[in-house]
Amino acid sequence: MADNDNDKLLEHAYDGIQEYDNPLPTWWKWIFYVTILVVPIYYWDPMGIGVGPGKEKAYEEQMAAFSAAHPKTAGTYTDEQVAAFAKDPARVEAGKVVYTTYCVPCHRPDGGGQIGPNLTDDFWIHGGRPTDVMKTVVEGVLAKGMPNWGKMLKPDQVEGVVGYVITLHGTNPANPKAPEGVQAAPDSVPSVSQGAAGPAKKGM
Ligand code: HEC
Repeated sequence: MADNDNDKLLEHAYDGIQEYDNPLPTWWKWIFYVTILVVPIYYWDPMGIGVGPGKEKAYEEQMAAFSAAHPKTAGTYTDEQVAAFAKDPARVEAGKVVYTTYCVPCHRPDGGGQIGPNLTDDFWIHGGRPTDVMKTVVEGVLAKGMPNWGKMLKPDQVEGVVGYVITLHGTNPANPKAPEGVQAAPDSVPSVSQGAAGPAKKGM
């Protein structure tokens, strides 16, 4: 590195400390020059010019990735969208797996109800519209022991399980729990077994 011939003591002394006036090592200077050469490639990047996607685009991409990985709020769905989940066989099949894993202890495998209410009848404590069911599942009813699944499940799991719950409506479970809540309007609860012709078409 520094050649001893270069060692030249500077005049000043601070607190009795003196220093040499040696040049920086060549390897260090080259790293510095290379960083200067690289700067123009990235300098314009935030404006979207150059190698990267740009600040705004990168933000949008990250937000899209985030919302894909986190549950939507229940309010972003329409009744038609939620009802459609129940008519998508692949989604319902995936939803059944979620139901079997998480919901059975309280709602029974056939949805007849145990700790939680019967999910197959026309009576709903929190409303029988597809979006009502979505809201109950996403937000839960913590005070009554219904967990907020939106915090625990991925969006496609929530969509699947809600679709599956909708298919349970109108089925005949063994030993069903007595109806709880109010009877939903006949057109508000979509039901595959009822033909699923037009869930929530009226009164939207
Ligand atoms: C720890 C017990 C428990 C588990 C597990 C559970 N629930 Fe519930 N669920 C309840 C209770 C209790 C209620 C009734 C809340 C009330 O009385 O307000 C309920 C209510 C509901 C309702 C609304 C019924 C109505 O009449 O409005 C739906 C829909 C529902 N649960 C779906 C699910 C789904 C889907 C899962 C699985 C992802 C699940 N629940 C898991 C306890 C549970």
